[in-house]
Order: sequence, then structure tokens, then C-alpha cells
Amino acid sequence: MTLQNDAIDWRSIEQLFINARSAHDFTDEPVTDTVLHQLYEYAKLGPTGFNTQPGRYLFVRTEEVRQKLAARCSSSNTQKVLSAPVTLIVAYDSHFHQFLPTQFPAFDAKGFFEKTPALIEPTALTNATLQAAYMIFAARALGLTAGPMSGFDNERVDTLFFPDGRWKSLLLINLGYADASRLAPRGPRLEFAEVAQIL
Ligand SMILES: Cc1cc2nc3c(=O)[nH]c(=O)nc-3n(C[C@H](O)[C@H](O)[C@H](O)COP(=O)(O)O)c2cc1C
Repeated sequence: MTLQNDAIDWRSIEQLFINARSAHDFTDEPVTDTVLHQLYEYAKLGPTGFNTQPGRYLFVRTEEVRQKLAARCSSSNTQKVLSAPVTLIVAYDSHFHQFLPTQFPAFDAKGFFEKTPALIEPTALTNATLQAAYMIFAARALGLTAGPMSGFDNERVDTLFFPDGRWKSLLLINLGYADASRLAPRGPRLEFAEVAQIL
């Protein structure tokens, strides 16, 4: 494979894409606070519309809290949460626009959302979902494996973890160091011609 001059090296491309998998079986190796902070330091730099940054993050690590989260997952996902040293609950802040005077001072974006409240939720969903993806790739860059999961009861998770109703859960991401021996073969991907056009 020929890479353009500014492309990252092939080993990094393998780590981010070619060899990276969505794993749900992890070794016992813990994920340190330092790594969790680093994860956010990289992921936060991914772009969001109006620099809105609606994503919010709850890292669930203690056994007691993981049990509570696992009990709110679909039956096929319960064990996956229990296997992971950390599960990240990615949520969005339904009042993300309050931060915009400092995060996007070039324009009255807070006023824009206040005048068009119908755009708040779709903007939050689009951008926090992107931020979840940035988290997955930041995890891969740091040598972690990420296992995203949407099979959980959002309402029960929100009632327990975000009782004031401001943050809304979007996605779980199991994080840790994968037990590669337990990975199923990767599912096939659609080909360029099936999904893309160049006009
Ligand atoms: C938004 C999203 C939701 C997912 N939900 C689940 C889930 O509830 N349970 C599960 O086991 N895997 C879940 N996955 C994992 C996918 O099945 C997996 O990413 C996909 O099959 C690609 O696998 P690969 O990255 O190993 O190639 C989810 C992935 C994403 C991105």
C-alpha cells in the first residue's frame, strides 16, 4: 500500500483500522485514570457543529456500579459489561448550548438554539454520536479495545445515573485490553461501489 507523504505510518493505520475490532471479552488488565484522561484529551479535539461538544461521559469502573449498569443491559450484553474493566456511558447534554458563549464566541450560537429549540436534540444526537466515534478511535490509538453497545435500557440507565434529566444516555463503550482469543471473525464490509459514488 502506498501512503501519501503526510499519512500516518502503516502500523498506526493497522492499529486504528485494519486490526482494530469491536471486542466484548477483556483481560483483567485495569485501565488507569491517566489513560481515561488521555482518552478524553484526544477525543475532545474531534470536530462538532458550532463546536457544540454535546457529548458527556460517565466511566463506570467499580464492581458495584458495573453490576448496576449490567442489570440495565440486554441479556446478551450483560456479561460484556461485567467482562470490561471500564464501561463508558456516552450521553448528551440536553443543555449543551449553555456553553456556547465560551466555546463558540464568534457567533451567538446559544441564542440561535434558544430561538430554535427544535434543533437542540437533533444537533446533540448527531454531534454526541460523532464524539462517541472519536472516543472509539482515541481508545484504539491508545492501545485499548473499544466495544460499543446500544443494547441497553436507556430510560433505566438515565433514571439511575442522570436523575436530573439533563444528560441522556446514547451508547455504551466497553473499554479494556481485549482477549483476542475470543474474537469471532470480522463481519464483511460493503464495497465502495455498493455504498459510494464519485460525481
Ligand atoms: C452503535 C453501535 C451499537 C452496537 N451495539 C452492540 C450491542 O448492543 N451488542 C454487541 O454485542 N455489539 C454491539 N455493537 C458492535 C457491532 O456489532 C460491531 O461494531 C460490528 O459488528 C463491527 O465489528 P468489528 O468492529 O469487530 O468489525 C455495536 C456497535 C455500534 C457501533
